Amino acid sequence: MIRIAVLVSGEGSNLEALLDFEKRGGNPDGRIVLVIADRSCNALDRAAGHRVTALMLDRQALGKKEFERSLLAGLEQHRIDLVVLAGFLTILSEKVTERYRRRIINIHPSLIPSFCGKGYYGERVHQAALQRGVKVSGATVHLVDEVADGGPILSQQAIEVLDDDTPSSLGRRILEQVEWKLLPKTVASYCLYMERNMSLSQKLAECRYPGRGIVCGMNERGKAIIAYFITARSIHSKNRALVAEGDTVRTKAVDESLLVDPSLIIYRVMDRLGNDMVVANGDQSDTILDGLRRGLDMQQSLQSRTFEPDEPNYTPRISALFHLGTDPFYELSILRRSADGSIDRSFYTYSDVRLGEAHLIHTYERDGNPLVSFTGEPRMVHLQGDGQSIADQIWDALDKEYRVAVCVKEVDLTGNDAKLVIRQGADNGSY
Ligand code: GAR
Repeated sequence: MIRIAVLVSGEGSNLEALLDFEKRGGNPDGRIVLVIADRSCNALDRAAGHRVTALMLDRQALGKKEFERSLLAGLEQHRIDLVVLAGFLTILSEKVTERYRRRIINIHPSLIPSFCGKGYYGERVHQAALQRGVKVSGATVHLVDEVADGGPILSQQAIEVLDDDTPSSLGRRILEQVEWKLLPKTVASYCLYMERNMSLSQKLAECRYPGRGIVCGMNERGKAIIAYFITARSIHSKNRALVAEGDTVRTKAVDESLLVDPSLIIYRVMDRLGNDMVVANGDQSDTILDGLRRGLDMQQSLQSRTFEPDEPNYTPRISALFHLGTDPFYELSILRRSADGSIDRSFYTYSDVRLGEAHLIHTYERDGNPLVSFTGEPRMVHLQGDGQSIADQIWDALDKEYRVAVCVKEVDLTGNDAKLVIRQGADNGSY
């Protein structure tokens, strides 16, 4: 989910259009979590009306330097991924545009490169357009860089200028007929684009306590990647390490004397049967491998299994299978408890294995008591680097307090040349 901040200075009708569009489900990949105004203005009331956190940083009173410092602090604190300028009249310095490169979007009420840049805002834009006698004008949504209104254009839409137009009538029509639609639509497509291009590290960093997780996909070098990670909260669950023997990876207790009930924490994590690599967060790995031996697929094999009985969390059972060979595919699965207590067995098959693309699934959506099961479909992530680098990326992205172990299998699609990397242990990152 892309976290959006909208920056405003005035009426805030574009902000309202963005919030309404989001409410109607128009931007499933983004959420406006913060509004920042550089002066007191009506847009702040609109934010309050939608119950969105709003900050007023008085640009005049603070001075530009202090204003930008507070702005960056606010964006950081709310973990903002994308900044949308919707009628924002402060020109941002390189300090901000550099920090949020390709992550700031602006709407300008003319067809850039006409009538834009310093001094062109509000009605002045339309006055200049009428003075020049243009027959069409419109709005532009673009990325912001250090040149005012100068960054790459994302979308534009034109309307006709009428003979009797005044700056105010032209501005009104551009606002209502173009801006209110063009800005929300462009922001939604940009969020989808950003979401699809999120790296594994960025995606993992979104969730403080993912529980156990699986990554399946192909790196940019064309190698199959199957990764598993463990984060844990309780001492019981933290008391674990991964051990490998041949193709088999298992969990074991670090301190045997602390092991009370091994049933949910000691299991076969990863194994291989011919061209099938299997990974799971529990002993359903045995069920899948048994099924495969009997000619069943993963979905058929898991019909006998359910979520874990660890009330009140009912931890989902997550599993994956990567089928190597000439027609590679991978399938991720989650067996989770629905709100009504019934079992939801979901399977997601990716037969179009693409360079640098992978899917991530983990047991919990977020930290909490009880823990909330992972919702929706596996998240798509960008995958780059060899097994070692991917193990490092995962390890570094996981919370220092919770991370326990990571293992990454990197293998040729032919099934040859398999390498396993395990990273676990103390903060200093022992292997
Ligand atoms: C809009 O027309 C927007 O394009 C313009 O300010 C207006 C804000 O309206 N932005 C600029 O001129 C930026 N240079 P709103 O406050 O009702 O959204």
